[in-house]
Amino acid sequence: MLAGRRVLLVIGGGIAAYKSLDLIRRLRERGAAVVPVLTRAAEEFVTPLSVGALAGQKVYRALFDLTDEAEMGHIQLSRTADLVVVAPATADLMAKMAGGQADDLASTLLLATDKRVLIAPAMNVRMWNHPATQRNLATLAADGILRVGPNDGDMACGEYGPGRMAEPLEIVAAIEAALGQGPLAGRHVLLTSGPTHEPIDPVRYIANRSSGAQGAALGAALAALGARVTFVTGPAAVPPPAGVTVVKVETAAQMLTAVQAALPADAAVFAAAVADWRVANAAASKMKKDGSGRAPALVFAENPDILATVSRLVEGRPRLVVGFAAETDDVLANATAKRLRKGCDWIVANDVRPATGIMGGVENEVTLVTADGAETWPRLAKDEVARRLAARIAGALA
Ligand code: CTP
Repeated sequence: MLAGRRVLLVIGGGIAAYKSLDLIRRLRERGAAVVPVLTRAAEEFVTPLSVGALAGQKVYRALFDLTDEAEMGHIQLSRTADLVVVAPATADLMAKMAGGQADDLASTLLLATDKRVLIAPAMNVRMWNHPATQRNLATLAADGILRVGPNDGDMACGEYGPGRMAEPLEIVAAIEAALGQGPLAGRHVLLTSGPTHEPIDPVRYIANRSSGAQGAALGAALAALGARVTFVTGPAAVPPPAGVTVVKVETAAQMLTAVQAALPADAAVFAAAVADWRVANAAASKMKKDGSGRAPALVFAENPDILATVSRLVEGRPRLVVGFAAETDDVLANATAKRLRKGCDWIVANDVRPATGIMGGVENEVTLVTADGAETWPRLAKDEVARRLAARIAGALA
């Protein structure tokens, strides 16, 4: 519930602005007051009349409205909210925020506010992937700006990929989390993600094909439910989610150290694809061909099993320990055995045969194995798998 909370909603100029009308409705249903601010471009997509009617509030528009400046200056407007939400956050608005520009009411409010800011980006996939936008995104994350989405999907411009604004209910969940309201508020969840890199010499390493996409999606979903998330990640292909504490590691040994340092936690989820072996005789200098035609003999040593180590903790074991199982054969039988062998509470198993397209892809098909048995979920986007799993974790910790 958001009773008595005040959200300053900046609506940017993008086609997703229509979803912001529904967002206003959902927020008001939950008791929040919504103060809307429209950029000039937003008025091309939604009208001040419809926004004002849904918000039941005056709509703030241009910066130099002298009446507003007399009644309530833009500085004060930016301070009276509990949270500032930008939805849709266009590439242009993000660039202005990252650059600290203040040339209209929306950007001035965003520069002047002393409240937390949550953005829901929405733009064409190429605009999203453009290095300039990704640079701005990194700047905004470093500035502590919270983010929800964007999601993958079909876009109004006919392309497919990341750039679709998060759905209104996802934005509501992120707002609740930002205001400390979600079902995981006050809980600490430790999450590992990505592959590990095990050095052979200073320039070569052994790795695996994990992109870290499922772990990143899960981090975002847990944070959206209000959890404080420690995200211990190997060198992943996808960026870490917003709103989590990121701890970057390379090797399995470093991952174990980072995990132990992050405990205690209410739940620990091990989505990382940890290398089972490291090179015991890794060279300190780059290995050279010696002209004999003989390949160097690598000696392997087994890595510590992080999941099993945490599952078996006698003191300080998280209440819920969840492992993942990437299998290519007998998924259910292997996952069921793995749950018992590792001592964790749940195993999220998936079939990673190349033909499934799951490893490195945007979808996942998982079977959740618990002490009560196994349930197979339909093939879903990794974001959706993450949301379902986060909701189950919230249920288990309730
Ligand atoms: N895991 C871990 N530390 C390791 C290896 C695995 O924490 N050194 C975790 C993974 O994060 C995952 C689970 O254990 O949650 C399953 O890992 P997997 O590699 O599939 O299992 P293995 O123990 O390697 O079993 P097998 O090689 O027989 O498939």
